[in-house]
Amino acid sequence: MTPADTHALVCRDVKKNFGPTQALAGVSLHVAPGELVALLGPNGAGKSTLFQILTGLFVADAGQVEVLGVDMRHHPVAALARLGVVFQQMALDLNLSVHANLRFHADLHGLPRRESARRIAQLLASGERKILGLVAPPGAGKSTLAEVLMAHYSPHAQGVPMDGFHLANSELVRLGRQQRKGAPDTFDAAGFVNLLRRLKNQSASETIYAPEFRRDIEEPVAGAIAVAPDKSLVITEGNYLLLEDAPWVQVREVVDEIWYLEVPDVLRRERLLARHMRFGRSRAQALDWMARTDEPNAVRIARTRQQADLCVSWF
Ligand SMILES: Nc1ncnc2c1ncn2[C@@H]1O[C@H](COP(=O)(O)OP(=O)(O)OP(=O)(O)O)[C@@H](O)[C@H]1O
Ligand SMILES: [Mg+2]
Repeated sequence: MTPADTHALVCRDVKKNFGPTQALAGVSLHVAPGELVALLGPNGAGKSTLFQILTGLFVADAGQVEVLGVDMRHHPVAALARLGVVFQQMALDLNLSVHANLRFHADLHGLPRRESARRIAQLLASGERKILGLVAPPGAGKSTLAEVLMAHYSPHAQGVPMDGFHLANSELVRLGRQQRKGAPDTFDAAGFVNLLRRLKNQSASETIYAPEFRRDIEEPVAGAIAVAPDKSLVITEGNYLLLEDAPWVQVREVVDEIWYLEVPDVLRRERLLARHMRFGRSRAQALDWMARTDEPNAVRIARTRQQADLCVSWF
């Protein structure tokens, strides 16, 4: 038997740095079912950081966390669904409403959202190719939710991210736009709209290939996603599905429903910071990139919220 089979919680060599400050230097911990473990340590020892990693709010720089055998890094939603959390204070965040606090707990347990499930059932029942869009500011969890939905509605659903239409880095350099990669004019928006149209009218004998954005190399890769004709639901996700400027505005004409993901800003920034750092930026570089590039985009995206067909909380 592996430790994951016998333990409720496993941490293996978990490391976390914030810039030059080492918060966790390789924490390993095995908690058996029914065992009570308390963490004791002086201020700054890393207790909160470890809790934030255990509850999926931060991502460890290295090491592994498993909750009842489920890996937190690769399956965060399934791992969180197995975990109960009692906060230090009555409310998680005094700025959140009672509803938002309850929603957070419900989401930690992976409670289904009835309205979204009903809408997807309706799309699937139509017997025609349908396209669902997910939109939200950077780091909200669009790609994560798309993956969850794809897994849940497998084999009927296929994801096709807008991010696949990032311009190549060489083209951004040629245009002088590399410092604001992620802004609307750093994507091949017309190519994205065209692909959505093809997907909407896909013939029964055709496989359509879509590009994928690879974060490890920070480049799009053509032909990475095969969309088979029998997929009833295509889930596309990205920042600019509801932008009113040409050619983005045409996305709305092709996509059947667009949902806006709602995440408290503080939590979204936390997720974004953790992801930037996981993919190689220092804390200072990540914060700088967020302030100069992600946040202006986030403001623009937030303004499109009222055009969405449904707002879904994802926190
Ligand atoms: N419900 C959740 N609970 C905890 N962490 C989450 C949740 N959803 C997403 N995350 C984490 O937040 C980070 C950002 O999520 P994701 O990459 O899906 O966002 P995104 O909206 O697709 O961002 P971008 O616009 O930059 O593509 C990821 O590291 C992901 O693992
Ligand atoms: Mg994404």
